[in-house]
Amino acid sequence: MKILIVNGPNLNLLGTREPTHYGVQTLADIQAMLTAEAATLGVELGFYQSNIEGELVDAIQQAVGQYDGIVLNAAAYTHTSVAIRDAVSAVKLPTVEVHLSNVFAREEFRHHSLLTAVCIGAICGFGAESYRLALRGLVAKLSE
Ligand code: DQA
Repeated sequence: MKILIVNGPNLNLLGTREPTHYGVQTLADIQAMLTAEAATLGVELGFYQSNIEGELVDAIQQAVGQYDGIVLNAAAYTHTSVAIRDAVSAVKLPTVEVHLSNVFAREEFRHHSLLTAVCIGAICGFGAESYRLALRGLVAKLSE
């Protein structure tokens, strides 16, 4: 089983970016944690990060035939991107939406996601642990 971990804009700045919201772990730290988790689950991971909406759409499209599912933190595009929603919907790969912060405890514009309805589930508020929970949930679902 192969899972693609996709991260959107500004998540390349994790570690220094607003640590009260996003913690002190870098994206590389999170990737290392997920790689170790994947080894215990017996799955393979791929990683992709971009600050550019169309590149995220391309990555989701190109996952078809290569990956069995996607863990997606679309970051700010969660709240704005019809294009990323349509890509997730089009490829029909089971996708889990993930956020480090509890978006519902923050500004109102973060309360709405265009992605949740086309994902199999969503996890937010657990910091880097959100990704591990998303990966475990996705692998459990794919193993059913
Ligand atoms: C985020 C939450 C988004 O609202 C925000 O724009 C991000 C990160 C999170 O992981 O908590 O960039 O997706």
